[in-house]
Amino acid sequence: MTRILVIHGPNLNLLGEREPEIYGSLTLEELNQKLREFAAEHNLELKIFQSNHEGAIIDFLHQERRWADGIVINPGAYTHYSYAIRDAIAAVGKPTVEVHLSDIKRREPFRRISVIADVCVAQICGLGWKSYIEGLKLLRARATMTNTSQQQGGSSMSEPIIEAKKDGPNLVKGPLKFIDASGKETVLDRPWVALCRCGHSNNKPFCDGTHSKIGFKADGAKFYTP
Ligand code: DQA
Repeated sequence: MTRILVIHGPNLNLLGEREPEIYGSLTLEELNQKLREFAAEHNLELKIFQSNHEGAIIDFLHQERRWADGIVINPGAYTHYSYAIRDAIAAVGKPTVEVHLSDIKRREPFRRISVIADVCVAQICGLGWKSYIEGLKLLRARATMTNTSQQQGGSSMSEPIIEAKKDGPNLVKGPLKFIDASGKETVLDRPWVALCRCGHSNNKPFCDGTHSKIGFKADGAKFYTP
């Protein structure tokens, strides 16, 4: 059983009536019900929390830090400026996925910045309520791989395991073969391979400026899952 905290930040209590053309028509309770159904089918235990207050979110993270194996958080507008929530996630040290209903990279400039992202193993956005489901799947896959590795006597996975998307971040499962512009093939033989949102791959969800040294570009590459 993998234990996951699901945290909804400010204004998400108004889902359903709040700008439904951006955030969808599901209420928060309906969204949570979808998460509970997914959890029941996939051996996950959830604690779900919503608050409009920064400190309350931080208190919840602190209180539940020993219980949780992972965290899915939609920090709402705190995404863009809360160093306190960022620090709390870093302090708790559990694999955390930042999720958003809308595609924050394609909205107003202030929303394109996340001060949370680089303490998270992934950022998933733009899939509506399914962003949360993808976050749960990612943490489940990660926990399964960590357990398997530990059972086999290996160390726990230290690398991030990412669900990425093809245009923007894509959800890509490996093993994957990347073919670069010169035709050179690289097979990444692990179940999950990350593509950065910028379209380059470095097994990281966010561009850290090293992609040009890696040698393949995902957007010009073909990939397959056998
Ligand atoms: C949001 C995006 C944020 O910019 C916004 O402030 C929210 C919701 C989303 O889920 O798309 O409250 O996190």
